[in-house]
Amino acid sequence: PAAKLWGGRFSEATDAFVERFTASVMFDQRMALEDIQGSLAHAQMLSEVGVLTADEFQQIAGGLKDIAEEIESGDFPWSVELEDVHMNIEARLTDRIGATGKKLHTGRSRNDQVATDIRLWLRNRIDQIAAELTRLQTGLVNLAEQEADTIMPGFTHLQSAQPVTFGHHLLAWNEMLTRDFERLMDCRKRVNRSPLGAAALAGTSYPINRARTAELLGFDAPTENSLDSVSDRDFAIEFCAFSALLLTHLSRASEELVLWTSSQFDFIDLPDRFCTGSSIMPQKKNPDVPELVRGKTGRVNGHLIALLTLMKSQPLAYNKDNQEDKEPLFDAADTALDCLRAFADMAPALKPKKQNMLAAAGKGFSTATDLADYLVRKGVAFRDAHEIVGQSVAFAIDKDCDLADLSLAELQKFSDVIGDDVFDVLTLEGSVAARDHIGGTAPNQVRAACERARALIATR
Ligand code: ARG
Repeated sequence: PAAKLWGGRFSEATDAFVERFTASVMFDQRMALEDIQGSLAHAQMLSEVGVLTADEFQQIAGGLKDIAEEIESGDFPWSVELEDVHMNIEARLTDRIGATGKKLHTGRSRNDQVATDIRLWLRNRIDQIAAELTRLQTGLVNLAEQEADTIMPGFTHLQSAQPVTFGHHLLAWNEMLTRDFERLMDCRKRVNRSPLGAAALAGTSYPINRARTAELLGFDAPTENSLDSVSDRDFAIEFCAFSALLLTHLSRASEELVLWTSSQFDFIDLPDRFCTGSSIMPQKKNPDVPELVRGKTGRVNGHLIALLTLMKSQPLAYNKDNQEDKEPLFDAADTALDCLRAFADMAPALKPKKQNMLAAAGKGFSTATDLADYLVRKGVAFRDAHEIVGQSVAFAIDKDCDLADLSLAELQKFSDVIGDDVFDVLTLEGSVAARDHIGGTAPNQVRAACERARALIATR
């Protein structure tokens, strides 16, 4: 069995179950390259301040680079007996380069080491997620521009409310994602600080240069307090909160895609490559991708609660509890990235069925508000106009027809201010074009909003 790096004060071997129970190497080996990156910066700094000689640093750096290759090619002999990624790599270094390897851990602890590794790993993931978010948003804005004139029903309570354009609806999704992007960038600022040098909890007695390791690792600055640096995982919680909101937004969009691809709505076609079939019902084409994104929201919400709960009662400074931070964080990041990728691939491929959308927009008296606004322009108070239109709608329901199908004489029974110009406001095109202000659904407003959205994306 591999000798424990901390074995000096122990007089019996670790219980075999305890060894497995306390190990994290099965999951924290995902941070192996970040661990090496951190060690390289630490060793370089130690040589610059004279704690290691230049030759020792060269040996350590050479050994770590060979180990990185070993890991990438899958040849690294991971050992549960060595507990975690940090001790596996450190022990391997000494195996490969001899006694100099034992100097790497000078002025450092696994506590600041692991905090550094997680931040490096997460920063990487954040940048990948940001790129996928941008790809998705670019696809949505392009499609929105194409569909700026495509009329569809707008809903409240999932009941027909007022006509909108498909472009406008897509831009609503885009707005949610813009805020998600801002949240992600804000989180990144707090992720991107270097805890290296906090050592176990109190700092170290060596003449270390924390600004230098921060700089070498691309962090904005060292963290401020050593106790806080090794203990808090609020940056990971923040990332999970970002992920939970992102998935909430993707889940809402997914739910709409599921509804719209049903034969009852039949608003869009989702290409076959994003769907799967049924093993029994030959006719089926199921929107699995959006359904699965909707479902994965649950696990990400769970990870957020897991990390909040993990942190809530921990006294300063590091506690082993924090080893439990990795699996939820990794899975939240993987899930966010996968779901974004699925959506970014899918969005430009959505094919609206314009005739169905238009026909649906005409149902449910969706221009009733326009009729009320028309009466207001003729001098009727809005509340009275509401009542008049309500009676007209009830009359049309009885006749089983739409408002626009009523004759002028029938409409005039409810208000004598109605003239034959009323039929212009009862059209769907007239209704959407009338909502002509910032944030409104008028096609020219949708096109202008696409321009602004594109300009904002270009600043990233
Ligand atoms: N595997 C540990 C973790 O994930 C690394 C830090 C261990 N530190 C310690 N003092 N046991 O948190």
